[in-house]
Amino acid sequence: MSTASAPASSPADAPLPPGPRGEPLLGCVRELRKDPLAFFSKQLREYGDVVRIRVGPVFVTMLAHPDHVRHVLQDNARNYNKQTRGFAVVRELLGQGLLTSEGDFWLRQRRLAQPAFHRQRLAGFARTMVDASVDLANTLESRIASGQPFDVAEDFTHLTLRIAGLTLFGTDVGDESHAIGEALGRAQTFANQRLTRLIPLPRALPLPSHLRFKKDVATLDRVVRTIIDRRRREGGEHHDLLQMLMEARDEDTGERMSDTQLRDEVLTLLLAGHETTASALAWTVVLLSRNPEARRSLEAELARELAGRAPTVEDIPRLAYTRRVVDESLRLYPPAWIFSRAPIQDDVVGGFRIPRGTFVLLLPWVTHRHPKLWDNPNTFDPDRFLPERERERPRFAWFPFGGGPRQCIGNQFALMELVLVLATLLQRVRLDLAPGHDFAPAPAITLRPRPGVWVTATRP
Ligand code: HEM
Repeated sequence: MSTASAPASSPADAPLPPGPRGEPLLGCVRELRKDPLAFFSKQLREYGDVVRIRVGPVFVTMLAHPDHVRHVLQDNARNYNKQTRGFAVVRELLGQGLLTSEGDFWLRQRRLAQPAFHRQRLAGFARTMVDASVDLANTLESRIASGQPFDVAEDFTHLTLRIAGLTLFGTDVGDESHAIGEALGRAQTFANQRLTRLIPLPRALPLPSHLRFKKDVATLDRVVRTIIDRRRREGGEHHDLLQMLMEARDEDTGERMSDTQLRDEVLTLLLAGHETTASALAWTVVLLSRNPEARRSLEAELARELAGRAPTVEDIPRLAYTRRVVDESLRLYPPAWIFSRAPIQDDVVGGFRIPRGTFVLLLPWVTHRHPKLWDNPNTFDPDRFLPERERERPRFAWFPFGGGPRQCIGNQFALMELVLVLATLLQRVRLDLAPGHDFAPAPAITLRPRPGVWVTATRP
């Protein structure tokens, strides 16, 4: 396999990477749109770790090797920004929050939010995560008797949204979660359609899809405004992220964040903080239902370590198998399955030229199933994440949370939440895929199982 450091050559000398010819003018846009996951996996098989792909008027380079991923996200991160088509579409929804902003502005906001994610703060969230999970466990248990199938992916969206609202903003958005879920689902589909259009139509055009998107953004805005207004009305002492954002002052000007800025940060954290985690939970249920042996090991660990009581933050280090299940689930179905960067200057990666004006695509979906990194890459095997086996792999063979300076701020939050939610629920119910309810990974901004994961509940 080639690496980022070899062979050393200046961008001008380096050849362009190999890649598919595609159709005249269109390039690969039609094949890509039909089945993005299959398309990118095929490029790795046919052309290797560095592949140049024409998508309509633009060229993108897919980088699949972990050393190349490290180069872009970490070692040479200064040469890459988020001025890509992918992030432009996300900006239409989230504005200039932590995920989408850049430069000094981003750094200031990141420093401001970081303390809310420190280890001690996170430990304080565990109780809320478990209490919300106990509520869901009660609901799931109450469905055992009927034997009727239900969409557990939807339950997980409600749960993770409630947890994000309660822990980060001190607000129970439980009642709103249906409206948020629907608006977000449609907004993602819309964003995806725009992304794969050859020439995105101006948003000002009053097309039905544009109007619908506007309405969905308005719904999300309303939820966020309610959270902020309620806090302003209530006043009092709060020690959460919302308070930190609302009280922060610019070091130079002493000014507070504008309402728009506050809206963008709150919406970003609310959406980034629940959608991905809900998707990871849903895929974990799918994988456990398909792998009864792993499920038995998980249930045995929960019975041994918890003996029927709800978990606490202190239990987490002992729930090692549960954590390996989470890691393996994030490998096979990484919720952030693709993300992009734009090179500021020409670069050389793996001996190939990455010209300015093109985009780089990093795909956990592809790297996480790379046959040279993983034995039987499509098989669910949580023990790949035993420490001794992990040590054999390069750091960026597994990067569901990205890496380098723009690494997910919520990664420890998410991992803790995933372990605590699964430990709470799966001691009390066993979830099996209900026959006749098909679903597939739907690659939009996140990789969700669509149209949902229909299961039946029994006692473990
Ligand atoms: C399984 C769950 C999660 C996954 C897979 C995930 C994945 C990611 C990835 C890949 C990035 C980096 C994107 C890039 O480099 O372009 C990211 C960034 C981010 N994530 Fe997460 N995330 C998860 C959970 C969370 C949670 C729980 C929160 C908040 C509570 C959160 C908030 C953010 C924010 C604010 C950023 C932008 C960070 C920055 O650029 O400074 N995420 N996430």
